[in-house]
Amino acid sequence: MLNALHAQPQDKILQLIQMFKDDPRDTKIDLGVGVYKDATGLTPVMRAVKAAEKQLWESEKTKTYTGLAGEPAYAEAMQTLLLAGVVPADRLAAVATPGGTGAIRQALELIQLASPDATVWLSNPTWPNHPSIIKYLGMKMAEYRYFDAERRGVDFDGMMADLASAKPGDVVLLHACCHNPTGANLTLPQWAAVADMLEKTGAIPFVDIAYQGFGDGLEEDAAGMRLLASRLPEMLIAASCSKNFGIYRERTGILIAIAPNADMRAVVQGNLAFLNRQNFSFPPDHGARLVTMILTDPALRAEWQAELEDVRQNMLTLRESLAAELRRLSGSDRFGFLAQHRGMFSRLGATPEQVETLRRDHGIYMVGDSRMNIAGLNARTVPILARAIIDAGV
Ligand code: LMR
Repeated sequence: MLNALHAQPQDKILQLIQMFKDDPRDTKIDLGVGVYKDATGLTPVMRAVKAAEKQLWESEKTKTYTGLAGEPAYAEAMQTLLLAGVVPADRLAAVATPGGTGAIRQALELIQLASPDATVWLSNPTWPNHPSIIKYLGMKMAEYRYFDAERRGVDFDGMMADLASAKPGDVVLLHACCHNPTGANLTLPQWAAVADMLEKTGAIPFVDIAYQGFGDGLEEDAAGMRLLASRLPEMLIAASCSKNFGIYRERTGILIAIAPNADMRAVVQGNLAFLNRQNFSFPPDHGARLVTMILTDPALRAEWQAELEDVRQNMLTLRESLAAELRRLSGSDRFGFLAQHRGMFSRLGATPEQVETLRRDHGIYMVGDSRMNIAGLNARTVPILARAIIDAGV
């Protein structure tokens, strides 16, 4: 049986981790996978997470199974963080999932159960794991224009023109903030126009939120998603705690489904728990428990928010200094978009050959579409990267 298997293509983002490790140059710079790093190159355990882990170690009496949907307290804390009460709780169904990817996978399977012929609309470009999972599940997908490569900004007219062809029951996947891979995001009036369009077409929003707090702030980064949630009868949200709580390997995510009414909520909740049982049974608990403790304890929460804000400010400073250095070296404003983008990523707009040159000649690793992880930089490496970008002819 096993000899019938074919080799799978390598994941383009995860492949970079190994290539970077194998590079012997000590001047190498890793701008690949989306992991936050401090100025020393470490991905730290956040202070509030450490403190919560200590408390948990002292107080935890059992590791017996939790509920199929995870702990209700986790769902409640995450619903408040994400939606801030804009939707009544009796319309919210939720399950804990293994990371944000687990939530995306469960959401897609829910869509398949409810509407097997639905087309899932993806931004062009999007996080490569989105189309990869959709294809693996054999679902239909379509692309909507999103990024204007010339301006390195959102092609909003193109996006709206494409979304006008969505059919009732189709699903539109949107990045709540810190768009991966481009770094270009919708403004609040643009979110309102997307809500109008979804109302008109009857397509259902499916929001992926993996970077809340990394862009303009915890509340600001959720504002567009909350606007959709307050207006539309149905919506799916896949959220990740990997980045904003720095608990990547704990696999902590949640899928929230907004039902049109309380009666439907019960059916949706049952379906979500059923899907968890089919795929992995009980969701991981450790990370979810830490997140619940942090979000519900005022002292831990204050500590977490302060550190998250430092992380956000650090990325903004790196963006501004890279844009300034490139302005100085190029004598132009053509890299000004780097300071406008938000989140970990920016798409630089380099050709695949230029990306290859940066890797080969300068030991600078970024994804082949020229997505850079800004958090992989520090004050020392910003001028090195800027010089290399200019030398590579970008
Ligand atoms: C990324 O896009 O680099 C991250 O979301 C990590 C991943 O799993 O791809």
